[in-house]
Amino acid sequence: MTREQAIADGLARVRARVAAAEQAAGRGPGSVRLLAISKKMPPDDVRAALAAGQRAFGENYAQELRDKRAALAAEAPAPEWHFVGPLQSNKVKYVAGQAALIHSVDSSALLAAIDGRGAPQACLVQVNVAGEAQKRGIAPEALPALLDALAAAKNVRCEGLMLIPPFDQDPRPHFAALRALRDREARHARPNVDLRELSMGMSDDFEAAIAEGATIVRVGTAIFGPRSPQP
Ligand SMILES: Cc1ncc(COP(=O)(O)O)c(C=O)c1O
Repeated sequence: MTREQAIADGLARVRARVAAAEQAAGRGPGSVRLLAISKKMPPDDVRAALAAGQRAFGENYAQELRDKRAALAAEAPAPEWHFVGPLQSNKVKYVAGQAALIHSVDSSALLAAIDGRGAPQACLVQVNVAGEAQKRGIAPEALPALLDALAAAKNVRCEGLMLIPPFDQDPRPHFAALRALRDREARHARPNVDLRELSMGMSDDFEAAIAEGATIVRVGTAIFGPRSPQP
């Protein structure tokens, strides 16, 4: 089987799983967007996914996003790039104004750096629902203040929340907790803030995320296979 065929098959399997999970959750077809995580995959893999009808791609590293975006700028239709990784303020210049959506805003300092670029930018706030020490994401108790800062931003608007659950626990209670946080904060009207998106769910757990209200699932391995090169 060619690499192109393997990627098309992976996409078809994931689309079928998404559709089944939408149906099981009583949600309409197409209510969940599939973001293909192309981190560490070469531009030709993105071309293969584009040829199979995938449009939205997510990257974890700022320079990789910049380079892949440049390599694929001439594709028609062009990929829609999302940034899903940890973002340091000094790398914001590679991402702000380039990504359709930055999923990983988790501090007022990062927000200020993105806003300071002067380009319109949509983002999600990454929340560390489980309070894991090593994990990026803002603590739930600090979320209202960051949303208030977003409400005052000049160029950045917030479209929802994002979560990476702990690797060693049942993710579903964490997905439910993110939705509950969203529902709570959505009751406070803020300019620039419309919490319609919940970015949660990866290859192994996106059905549970869809059952808990995910609107964007971020899927890498189940489409492209393992990220480390095979011997
Ligand atoms: C933030 C984020 N979301 C989603 C994924 C995709 O994970 P998987 O390959 O398990 O689908 C990754 C992979 O690194 C990631 O970093």
